Amino acid sequence: MIHEQREVIDEIIGKIRSGRMTRRTFLERAVAVGLSSTAAVSLLEACGGTSNSTGGNGQTTNVTWLNGHDASGTYSYLTNAFNKQNNGVHVTYTDGPSDTGQLLTIFTTMLRAHSNSYDIMSMDIIWPAEFGANGWTTPISTTQWPTSERANYLPGPLQGCTYNGQLWAAPLFTDAGLIYYRTDLVTTPPNSWTDMVTMAKSFAPSKVKYGYLWQGAQYEGLVCDFVEVLYGYGGNVLDPNNAKSVTVNSAEAQQALSEMVSWVGTISPAAVTTFKEEDARNSWQNGDSVFMRNWPYAYSLGQDPASSKIVGKFDVHPLLYGGNSTVGHSNIGGWQLGINAFSKVPDAAWKFIHYMLSLEAQKYIAMNASELTTLEAIYSDADVLAKVPFFGKMGGILKNALPRPVSPFYPDISNAIQLRVHNALTKQSTVAAALSALQADLQTIVSK
Ligand code: GLC
Repeated sequence: MIHEQREVIDEIIGKIRSGRMTRRTFLERAVAVGLSSTAAVSLLEACGGTSNSTGGNGQTTNVTWLNGHDASGTYSYLTNAFNKQNNGVHVTYTDGPSDTGQLLTIFTTMLRAHSNSYDIMSMDIIWPAEFGANGWTTPISTTQWPTSERANYLPGPLQGCTYNGQLWAAPLFTDAGLIYYRTDLVTTPPNSWTDMVTMAKSFAPSKVKYGYLWQGAQYEGLVCDFVEVLYGYGGNVLDPNNAKSVTVNSAEAQQALSEMVSWVGTISPAAVTTFKEEDARNSWQNGDSVFMRNWPYAYSLGQDPASSKIVGKFDVHPLLYGGNSTVGHSNIGGWQLGINAFSKVPDAAWKFIHYMLSLEAQKYIAMNASELTTLEAIYSDADVLAKVPFFGKMGGILKNALPRPVSPFYPDISNAIQLRVHNALTKQSTVAAALSALQADLQTIVSK
């Protein structure tokens, strides 16, 4: 989320809380600064601080869950399936914004007000440390979720949910950037960025509108796209052995960022600098492009004949490399379920989260949302491999996957990367100036 947007949101939150603004004006202003209407409504509910939850009274316990946007309908389906079990817990599912920054604003507003509008929070992998440090989620104990059961889940995402020795959320699925390519156009997918550009130019705009779609808007997703190109050129943001040392103003970063700038308005539409995941996916599914960078969720949706024009005409490939490198690196994302520390119904919330970790739910998510669920058994399940064959090659991709910079100052680091990289992409600054400014920004941030 950009700085100006956050300022307006903080201002209207203050006004609605103090009764100086109507609900309608709040919603209008929130939408005007770029929040989707679902996000605006969720934010309004979070500000109200009202609880939908009722404590156990021998009857049904109501639990609320705010998820990010799910175009596949998988999560509302599973919520209904859980509710039909009639086990004394009823979960209300809310489909929130797809921009992780917007979802974070809703949660931080709710949590700072000690509100329990949502008992269960879908949490991005970059949040558990912040939530843990603030005591915003209830840690999951080994009595609730025994160590022997946890051992069946991928260690990386479990590690990502751990802070100060406690597990602050349960890992639902992990994420890794992928290169999508059109199998009806490309016989052998490229491994280097240079080859990708050459291939893209040979098909676009003669056969398809665009060569390459990706996420170039000024938001968290741009950080993911940037570090993937950077890591692919052998560069880094911080020294992996010393998080106080900034290494972003390097020859590798020059090459990586120049590469990205060169795509804008050539193999990628000029508007790619406003694209988030869903913009890229919608254009891709419309058959507009030869290549796309996106997360695994775009696979199932692309194979859905109800909305996609490229069913059976694409596959996925590992991230690309450039310069002297010989291996590409996906960035690691992923989503967890955390229990609001102010929830009055944490046990009922856990009952639902535990269901979402079950083989039944994890298999359904893998097969219908093509998300990389964390239960390891999923990756050798014959039904899963038949429906989403690319799960078979995820082992190698995940082995080379790398996180965004690991630092207690991550939110500030992310904002600086978003701003400086976006300035270069939109030609408001040169690559050299953007990287030198970013180096200075980050050095100040990590020296705090
Ligand atoms: C995906 C990833 C998440 C990342 C986001 C950026 O949702 O899972 O980790 O922050 O994309 O847009």
